[in-house]
Amino acid sequence: MKNKIALLTSSQGKNTQKVGMILSEMLADDFKIDQIDIDQSDGIGIKDYPFLIMGASTWFDGELPYYWDEFLPSIEDCDFSDTKVAIFGLGDSKRYPDNFCDAIGLLAKWFEKHGATIIGSVHIDDYHFETAFYTDDHRFKGLPVEYLVDNTEWEERIANWKQQIVEEFNEL
Ligand SMILES: Cc1cc2nc3c(=O)[nH]c(=O)nc-3n(C[C@H](O)[C@H](O)[C@H](O)COP(=O)(O)O)c2cc1C
Repeated sequence: MKNKIALLTSSQGKNTQKVGMILSEMLADDFKIDQIDIDQSDGIGIKDYPFLIMGASTWFDGELPYYWDEFLPSIEDCDFSDTKVAIFGLGDSKRYPDNFCDAIGLLAKWFEKHGATIIGSVHIDDYHFETAFYTDDHRFKGLPVEYLVDNTEWEERIANWKQQIVEEFNEL
């Protein structure tokens, strides 16, 4: 039986949702994917998935879109110690080089605080920006996606990242 993944995005983040659908199709051979719209979810049952994928764009000056402000409190009391979480973040390094894809770091911090293991980190050298959240070993805690900003790199990056997270989800 295939392992289950919940892939969470918001219907209000149109680009993020499209990338979520692309990723969902790529993962369908390996996993049973439940794509969940966080606007419609009360968070119940999220804790039961061993693997979560979160997709969020960055808005304003490096903030999560406002709808996450409603969803995250609904799962505030959950313990994600048994959960592996992979995060992809939509952003634009040309227009917003000072807060590039900050949503990745914000979500990673939230889930780490609640016990989760974050997988799917990506080296910063593949991107051009001024400032962003990244680790001491120069990695984003997820995949930055410049959907429709760079020409085709985003597609290749998603395909490579898909391979990476399948391997990391399956590691003990
Ligand atoms: C008002 C506004 C603020 C933005 N702020 C940032 C930002 O701080 N950092 C970043 O990387 N991208 C930023 N972006 C770019 C978006 O994250 C990007 O366009 C993304 O594809 C939007 O995805 P969505 O349709 O799912 O929300 C911003 C876009 C807008 C319109």
